[in-house]
Amino acid sequence: MAKILVSGGTGYIGSHTVVELLEEGMEVVIVDDLSNSERKVLDGITSITGIEPHFEEVDLKDRKATYGVFEKYPDINAIIHFAAFKAVGESVQKPLVYYENNLLSLIHMLEAMKHFNIDNMVFSSSCTVYGEPDVLPVSENAPLKKANSPYGNTKQICEDILQDTINSTEGLGVISLRYFNPIGAHPTASIGELPIGVPNNLVPFITQTAAGLRESLSVFGDDYNTPDGSAIRDYINVVDLAKAHVKAIRRLLDQKQLSAFEVFNLGTGRGLSVFEIIHAFEKSTGQKLNYKIVDRREGDIEKVYADTSYANDELGWKAEKGIEETLQSAWKWEMNIQSKH
Ligand code: UFG
Repeated sequence: MAKILVSGGTGYIGSHTVVELLEEGMEVVIVDDLSNSERKVLDGITSITGIEPHFEEVDLKDRKATYGVFEKYPDINAIIHFAAFKAVGESVQKPLVYYENNLLSLIHMLEAMKHFNIDNMVFSSSCTVYGEPDVLPVSENAPLKKANSPYGNTKQICEDILQDTINSTEGLGVISLRYFNPIGAHPTASIGELPIGVPNNLVPFITQTAAGLRESLSVFGDDYNTPDGSAIRDYINVVDLAKAHVKAIRRLLDQKQLSAFEVFNLGTGRGLSVFEIIHAFEKSTGQKLNYKIVDRREGDIEKVYADTSYANDELGWKAEKGIEETLQSAWKWEMNIQSKH
């Protein structure tokens, strides 16, 4: 049975991925410092799968503690490295915190992989590396644009670190997954996104507004060059996204890679505007949403959506869930959170 170390495994995408790995019969060791997640996520994972994953509360900035995890679990086959800070605005305020955390965690992980002879890693990347693409849908070989936040820059630098490390390390295989906009929650509503404070992202803000926690949603700009004037993104169901990690792990373990460093876009291939998301939410949940139109948000791009053909053909993965089902899952999760307060 494959044993997978999942860093950031109690986070939003990490926890959904752990569920899919366990359901595929893999053994999971979660490493998380709980800086942006909660221990009770482990209960959610166990209630869905009936399995308690191993859990180590470790900060990957601590090299010694990181090595300690590998000493405790000597037979790890592969790593999925989610652990990172991810708030764009916060990264502008605290760039050094972002560079230190996101780069050092990856470096320590790669050092440990070398030391303990582990050859396989799946890395969490982002469509933020494309900036505002010149051609849509954007494919993996589109040129990368200068990052417009320290957070985005950490993802670009991490991909460079991975490429350079592969060049100098025989046998190492890495798959970098570039996520578009992950949304929704597990259909059981046992795990989901847990934003701290006021959400920055669209869908958690929508569900909190519908739940009465926020007065109204601010739509950031209706004067973009898009059919309805609001910005367009590729919203991907988090469970679909999680399943792609299982495919990537299998690909690494079965050594089916075409090259040692592979990159895949994970999106639906379909762009939806902010207004389309609002209407789909209202239609699928029956909730009326208060919203107002305000100025554009600084740093936002106009439109981005994925060319998913490489992931479809080569990884054998395709997004399956529709937007209404996905927004319903987000709403069910929000109601679950509220019922516990
Ligand atoms: N939006 C609103 N109101 C809100 C929040 C968002 O109108 O209250 C709009 C945004 O302007 C944008 C869209 O909804 O047009 C999506 O915004 P999100 O904040 O949910 O997502 P982003 O596309 O801005 O950011 C996401 C990830 C980042 C990543 C980025 C890459 O959250 O980690 O994609 O493009 F860097």
